Amino acid sequence: MLDIRTALQQGTKLLEESAISAPRLTAEVLLSHALKRERSYFYAHPEEELSGVAWIHYGRYLHERLQGKPTQYITGRQEFYGREFLVSPDVLIPRPETEHLVEAAIKRISPGNTVLDVGTGSGAIAISLALETQARLIACDLSLLAIQVAIGNAGRLGASVEWLASDLLTAMRSRSVDVLVSNPPYVPSVDEAGLQREVRDWEPHLALFAGPNGMDVYERLIQQSSQVLRPGGWLLLELGYNSLKPVQEMLLDEWNEIELVHDLAGFPRVLAARLIG
Ligand SMILES: C[S@@+](CC[C@H](N)C(=O)[O-])C[C@H]1O[C@@H](n2cnc3c(N)ncnc32)[C@H](O)[C@@H]1O
Repeated sequence: MLDIRTALQQGTKLLEESAISAPRLTAEVLLSHALKRERSYFYAHPEEELSGVAWIHYGRYLHERLQGKPTQYITGRQEFYGREFLVSPDVLIPRPETEHLVEAAIKRISPGNTVLDVGTGSGAIAISLALETQARLIACDLSLLAIQVAIGNAGRLGASVEWLASDLLTAMRSRSVDVLVSNPPYVPSVDEAGLQREVRDWEPHLALFAGPNGMDVYERLIQQSSQVLRPGGWLLLELGYNSLKPVQEMLLDEWNEIELVHDLAGFPRVLAARLIG
């Protein structure tokens, strides 16, 4: 039998040899998942032996990671805005950059506002906003499987959100909202071959791609937003790499007070625009 220290050393070496990023951290996260223990436990008990069952689970998780499966889909978890969300390959793994979108939305939401999250995926944005503000939250997605994951997360985290299965805003009909927030698919389909295999082979393509130049969903969403937002309402969009200029060009007529938030790497990551009242 192996002890914790040796299991971590061997796992790290295997991951390193396959050029998996952050090999030691990944080995610790996978062993923590296999043992159902916090990572801090390993430092206090390096000599503890793994049970046969834990060893089998750890071996399977390492194998899955070596095959390219993202760690978050192996553990089924991802932290977002200070809370733990359950994730499966039916939803995009929420990214830390998207926390900028949540922050920008919180700054613009007033108590009692109605807020719509379009393309909710795991529900990370809608649930965070429901728990951080006193707004009424609606969230939609075209994927029923994603909505099921989001409903599970809302139940676990105690958030109240109204869920809609909808192609963008079609299910909103004559309803209106004060703030519309979205991290839409924005990867150009022509970039597919160049994506990391963890993203290309595992994350839902419906969550990633938006036509040849990545602009299809922005275009439809911006057109539909002015029908659903109240005059003076805010539209907040996460921006993809190189999408700022084309998105700004789509906002010429009915929008003003266009503001940008840059991410920690200095890229424009969130665009906020106000519907002319
Ligand atoms: C980039 S993911 C964002 C997921 C989640 N909001 C997040 O930030 O982690 C885009 C989401 O939009 C959804 N989606 C794609 N096309 C859609 C459409 N036409 N109508 C509604 N949702 C759509 C996908 O299923 C996916 O959940």
